[in-house]
Amino acid sequence: MPPRGERRLVLSRRNDPKQVRRNVNNTNTSPLMSTPSYTQSARLYDALYHFKNYSDEHAKLRAFIQEFNSHANTLLDVACGTGKHLELLSQHYQVEGLDLNAELLESARQRCPHIPLHRGDMMEFELGHTFDVVTCLFSSIGFVKTVDGLERAVACMARHLNHGGLLLVEPWFSPETFWTRRIVANYANEPELKIVWMYTSETEGQISVLDSHFLVGTPGGITHFTERHELGLFTQHEYQEAFQKAHLETHYDVKGLMGRGMYIGVSRK
Ligand SMILES: C[S@@+](CC[C@H](N)C(=O)[O-])C[C@H]1O[C@@H](n2cnc3c(N)ncnc32)[C@H](O)[C@@H]1O
Repeated sequence: MPPRGERRLVLSRRNDPKQVRRNVNNTNTSPLMSTPSYTQSARLYDALYHFKNYSDEHAKLRAFIQEFNSHANTLLDVACGTGKHLELLSQHYQVEGLDLNAELLESARQRCPHIPLHRGDMMEFELGHTFDVVTCLFSSIGFVKTVDGLERAVACMARHLNHGGLLLVEPWFSPETFWTRRIVANYANEPELKIVWMYTSETEGQISVLDSHFLVGTPGGITHFTERHELGLFTQHEYQEAFQKAHLETHYDVKGLMGRGMYIGVSRK
């Protein structure tokens, strides 16, 4: 877990690509820099992460927004996945979502048919308009892998903020807090869908590597597949520098939504 200490720290005061379907817009960018993750498990995403308490996280997110930008009206969720945060946030804000994975975006479209969704890479998207809040949650930032990717992604998200706008980034583990040589097992148990899902955790330089095996059972049969996720392990200093380079006044909350912390940037551009 991220370092313990004061709950809220002020870190700085410086100023396969499928056919994109209806309501899922391609962003106006060059070809995508990254390859999508969750290539095989996208259809199972909500079942795999059934343990995540989105409504509890939503209440915490609302508290961050109230504290740092209480007049916020518009919000962009970057790396929105299947749109579970968007669905809840749309009760309070005019929201849009963005993700790299077309299959996850299609699930988000089915969940939230009226919310504008964009296919794009968090390191280089350009939507042509700005927001009061930009979020990047559940450690999605780790998928940019390198410090250069982190700085590009934070700069890109910061460019989509209005003056005084708020960037909320829920980090992945740091080099100090990531556990290696572990085996983790998770289960999903629905009447007609059983999943056993195990992964090992290793590092390759500053990158964490999760090699997952999935055993998926339905009344039609049992299948097995593997998937590899690679996420960058960034230090607090590296996050802080990325925020400062993007001209964000930076704060850090040790707990965040689920114990992984939260980087909070306020645009002073
Ligand atoms: C752990 S999931 C989080 C999804 C969602 N935010 C949630 O809380 O359920 C990580 C998400 O990051 C997305 N992602 C990975 N790399 C990306 C990139 N370069 N640009 C945009 N989205 C990306 C994945 O497609 C996936 O939806």
